[in-house]
Amino acid sequence: MSDQVLPNENFEVPSDLEAFEQEFSQLSPEELTDIRPLPRVSMHAFCESPQLLSTIESVANDRRMARVHVKAVSGGIRAATEFFSEAPTPNLILLEANMAYEELLEDLDRLAEVCDVGTKVVLVGHINDVQMYRDLVRRGVSEYIVMPVGQIELIQALSDLFSNPENDPLGKSIAFIGAKGGVGSSTMAHNIGWAISTVHQQDVIITDFDVAFGTAGLDFNEDPPQTIADAIKAADRLDDQFLERLLTKCSERLNLLTAPAVLDQTCDYDDEFFSHMLELLQNSAPYTVLDLPHLWSAWNKHLLLGADEIVITVAPDLANLRNVKNLLDLIGQERRGDREPFLIINQTGMQKRPEIKAKDFVAALERTDFIEVPFDPATFGLAANNGQMISELSASGKIADIFDKLASDLTGRTEAPKASKSLFAPLLGKLKKSK
Ligand SMILES: Nc1ncnc2c1ncn2[C@@H]1O[C@H](COP(=O)(O)OP(=O)(O)O)[C@@H](O)[C@H]1O
Ligand SMILES: [Mg+2]
Repeated sequence: MSDQVLPNENFEVPSDLEAFEQEFSQLSPEELTDIRPLPRVSMHAFCESPQLLSTIESVANDRRMARVHVKAVSGGIRAATEFFSEAPTPNLILLEANMAYEELLEDLDRLAEVCDVGTKVVLVGHINDVQMYRDLVRRGVSEYIVMPVGQIELIQALSDLFSNPENDPLGKSIAFIGAKGGVGSSTMAHNIGWAISTVHQQDVIITDFDVAFGTAGLDFNEDPPQTIADAIKAADRLDDQFLERLLTKCSERLNLLTAPAVLDQTCDYDDEFFSHMLELLQNSAPYTVLDLPHLWSAWNKHLLLGADEIVITVAPDLANLRNVKNLLDLIGQERRGDREPFLIINQTGMQKRPEIKAKDFVAALERTDFIEVPFDPATFGLAANNGQMISELSASGKIADIFDKLASDLTGRTEAPKASKSLFAPLLGKLKKSK
């Protein structure tokens, strides 16, 4: 084996020489160096054999897996099903299966009932059978790998799951816009991005498109030197690695692309550039929150209309009503067949201020569904001044619950049950298991 076939300097020669040679004989030198790093996804592996468990542990330390949150435990499909009936599912579940085919299918069906949408399942099995592989793929399994599997082969297979250009982009984009300036759209965007990253344990990138006046940095108490302005300046050489360097990690699963909030540029940008940037962001994390400014430029309109989901924030007055009506009409025309935007009526119940009641507001829009967030200057003011999110101030408050619920509706993911307050819950859990 010549030197240039080794993938990187961290590579360790396995003790099992036979498995080592088998692994390398299947891959050409080009393939070995051409494995794309995986995006910010979470992977949970359930391994029946100690060999697979130790392979996964080594794989987790590979540089191409640096952005992946890897958990590996002993157990099979049943252990996974039990685990995910009480926890949010990651982006990728890897399962070792060592059982008869019929039994495997039954167990997979049970697992599917507790999986959130978009979770990929990779099976590692011990039977090398093409027909079985095809059947499993037809049933929604993303990949079937036959044991014994080598480190490089496994990383390649995982990487391919996310870098196939024929697949949809990994990430979902959620655009937030206000019907007027100052109605709280950015506050909603940041809190809901935070909820997705904590309640649903999904990686989120919040991008502040309000280049001149954006507050994402302030709201999260971050002041990074690199901002979205660097991306704009380097438009012709922006790629995933460049963008990666511009992100600021503000918690385990939340990254920010902040605005410089300086006035040395005006905001007439090229909309194709922002589409390219969005594509890169969407291939880098499962959720991208677009915090859009309240302005009507070609690029802002393009980002809004192109997002997977839209959230419009309004304050309950006449100007907001007129503006949101125009926005909803336009969005309805341009996005036929898509889900309607979510509507947040924010800052309701402000003392002494005349306002349109939320029910009347939506009736005028011929809608029934809306999310109401009360005016609460003490809570929002404290959060803004501390550079914290509302649920960091009080995780069990009414407003934090509204954000958690909206995060669930936007992602289609079920919320992980919070630590139960019931004294009987542990007992009930045991009874359920022993059935
Ligand atoms: N429900 C609320 N109650 C009290 N203050 C709020 C509420 N929502 C937002 N705010 C405050 O309103 C101000 C403007 O919010 P921001 O999110 O920057 O608005 P926008 O992005 O729409 O311009 C911020 O100081 C924020 O803390
Ligand atoms: Mg804003």
